[in-house]
Amino acid sequence: MATRPVLVALLASPRRQGNSAALLQAFLKPLTAWDVRVFHLPSLSIHPCQACDHCLRRKTYRCRYADDMTNLIQAWDTATALVLSTPVYYYGFPSQAKAVIDRCHPLFHDSHWQKHARRPAYLLANCAASQKSEFKVITHEARAFLNTIAFKLTGELLVTGMGSRNAGERLVWAQKRAETLGKALNGRKGMPHAG
Ligand SMILES: Cc1cc2nc3c(=O)[nH]c(=O)nc-3n(C[C@H](O)[C@H](O)[C@H](O)COP(=O)(O)O)c2cc1C
Repeated sequence: MATRPVLVALLASPRRQGNSAALLQAFLKPLTAWDVRVFHLPSLSIHPCQACDHCLRRKTYRCRYADDMTNLIQAWDTATALVLSTPVYYYGFPSQAKAVIDRCHPLFHDSHWQKHARRPAYLLANCAASQKSEFKVITHEARAFLNTIAFKLTGELLVTGMGSRNAGERLVWAQKRAETLGKALNGRKGMPHAG
């Protein structure tokens, strides 16, 4: 039996039932043929990078902290595609997601990742404000992060005006767009189709 392709889904909001979670859920809806592995980043134990360069000094590319980063890296290595759903916190990522990104420091230098074929990745980001400029930092940093772990930002959904816990009609509209992105991943050449 053919093994199912793996989608790694990263949820960056501390709110498990918030807007980022709702967008992620909608994105995943069409992807029934996939083996979906969801990581709620704020629930993981990820020590912040201390810039000690332990990982680079002997070219081991391993952090001196043995924590949940090991599982994440393993999942990224074998994934077919990735989706990252996040709120904007002060123009950037929530600190738990930022800790994960900073811990990619050794991977940036490890040729293993540079030789890896670039796989499709999707960004779902949302914020309270009404202007798109709110996403400037997040989109820039997401590209760099994804590139480091051998993914290519293939599609993005940037939703403004999601200030409340239940953004109502706007959330329903945004979920439809997230679902469309999920379908786009399904429809990519070489990817499995739902149903
Ligand atoms: C600490 C914190 C910082 C935030 N910073 C911003 C911001 O800079 N710009 C913005 O438009 N919204 C900001 N927001 C609002 C959230 O991005 C927004 O409510 C989002 O929908 C929350 O997503 P969630 O329900 O997945 O947590 C902030 C919220 C918090 C809690």
